[in-house]
Amino acid sequence: GEARAQGSSAFSFPEVEAGVDADHHVAEGYDADVLLRWGDKVFADAPEFDPRAQSEAAQERQFGYNNDFVGFIPLDGATDRGLLVVNHEYTNEHLMFPNVVTLKDGEMVVADATADRADIEMAAHGGTVIELRKVDGKWAPVLDGRLNRRITAKTRMQLTGPAAGHDRLKTSEDPSGAEVLGTINNCAGGVTPWGTYIMAEENIHGYFLGDLPADHPEARNHERLGVPGASYQWGRFHKRFDVGQEPNEPNRFGWIVEVDVMDPTSVPKKRTALGRFKHEGAESVVAKDGRVVFYLGDDERFDYVYKFVTNGRYNPDDRAANMDLLDEGTLHVARFEADGSMRWIPLVHGEGPLTAENGFESQADVLIETRRAADLLEATPMDRPEDIQPNPQTGRAYVMLTNNTKRTEADAANPRVKNAFGHIIEILEADGDFTATTGRWEILLQCGDPAVAEVGATFSTETTKNGWFGMPDNAAVDADGRLWVSTDGNSMADTGRTDGLWAVDTEGDARGTSRLFYRVPVGAELCGPCPTEDMSTFFVAVQHPGDGGEDWEGHGRLSYYEDLSTRWPDFKDDMPVRPAVVAITRQGGGRIG
Ligand code: FEO
Ligand code: CA
Ligand code: CA
Ligand code: CA
Repeated sequence: GEARAQGSSAFSFPEVEAGVDADHHVAEGYDADVLLRWGDKVFADAPEFDPRAQSEAAQERQFGYNNDFVGFIPLDGATDRGLLVVNHEYTNEHLMFPNVVTLKDGEMVVADATADRADIEMAAHGGTVIELRKVDGKWAPVLDGRLNRRITAKTRMQLTGPAAGHDRLKTSEDPSGAEVLGTINNCAGGVTPWGTYIMAEENIHGYFLGDLPADHPEARNHERLGVPGASYQWGRFHKRFDVGQEPNEPNRFGWIVEVDVMDPTSVPKKRTALGRFKHEGAESVVAKDGRVVFYLGDDERFDYVYKFVTNGRYNPDDRAANMDLLDEGTLHVARFEADGSMRWIPLVHGEGPLTAENGFESQADVLIETRRAADLLEATPMDRPEDIQPNPQTGRAYVMLTNNTKRTEADAANPRVKNAFGHIIEILEADGDFTATTGRWEILLQCGDPAVAEVGATFSTETTKNGWFGMPDNAAVDADGRLWVSTDGNSMADTGRTDGLWAVDTEGDARGTSRLFYRVPVGAELCGPCPTEDMSTFFVAVQHPGDGGEDWEGHGRLSYYEDLSTRWPDFKDDMPVRPAVVAITRQGGGRIG
């Protein structure tokens, strides 16, 4: 009953009412303050944002588009000063640029790119590192912060680890096979225990166009990742994105990128030891013996769950000693058994089927074609693995499986066919040891509306009509060991609610109870939920608000909620809708939740 649920839940905030409108909403007693919007200054000398006079040079000094992962790295151990690190996953041309859309038979058609537009888009990708300070309980960017930085699709980067310098990574512009320009489609990510910023390269296929030369040896590899996806036209202006001219360039993307935020001139490193696929994120935890474990999702229908275990141990007293931990270690892929057991299978060249007979000449080949290696190891094909969040207090990890409407055969770990709303798996590592190669697993939640029997949702009966959600995407475990889940796709699925941030009980009587804390404007998804260590602040990223609605000039309507559109967060006719990072705090201060 009501009293028991109240008593056993780890959360006590008043629930937000689920719904859909042009604004965002947070639980009563909390403030949700817009902190950084697309186009805001990242440096004191950056130009003011002028949406009708955008340029590459301006965008390189301003906050990028479509904020996804958000991390917070305290400076000097302070709770009121630190670096916010934010990924800029992708760009929506029809929402970014004026006068690029025409209507054809009621559909929006985006005009062909120009070289200038492609360069602005490239500068709007990547990441931002920006110092924040809290003054009188409110966060603000420090525009003259010495460590502030923009990373873009043109920033010079280094490939490191077992695949660096391999022939398959060489191009006409880079005969070393170890120097890459830029990072793209940085979805979720992580902050390492030693305070570096991890950017995961996810849907890289869309950035490549052209035709691979006939019978090219990379054909099978590229096909497995959907390259070339040709969503962007950069390859018309930058030949490295044309696979007809640079067949190996795609092999230089799809990696985990590590950024040393304490040196704004440092060269970001693409850590090939963690494999190449559509990396959602890389959340990490220090295991009992000091090795560090990174959980990795490959976000595609029927792809896999991975984890990487470093060879070396984390040294909390010597930051420099940790800086190349990600170059040596073992990548594993998960196999979930019907009896509730699981195995983490190592991807090691020469072991099992990962041999020259199967086209793997070395560990570099295993890493460049991680997916094909995992196929041969008979890993369990999953319903789109997104963020995977370890809970250091319990030795468990939570896997967000966002959806898979193409599944026709259920299995124990993916128990629904046409899984429109996704589910969450809880992994219990053997003996609570994150380096374990065996474990148990359970389904924490099957998502969707519990009131619709056919959906098969398994939220607890204490969960209200506001508390259920579909399409889990990102997750956070706060300092009290509590799970928070953010979603991607509730607007589009016409669930009568937008995406948002839900608090999910995992322990005791309340396990499986969820309640809504914050929701986004129509068309948006919610990314990057990032609670600070002292639980005074939740940073969240509102991504692609207004998508599916009208374009910059007011053409088109939302296909799923008629007549609803938004110009969040400015609500000005001459200002487009803008993705933004929001800081949520408790009114009068105090811990969130
Ligand atoms: Fe970029 Fe898997 O979401
Ligand atoms: Ca995501
Ligand atoms: Ca996370
Ligand atoms: Ca997603």
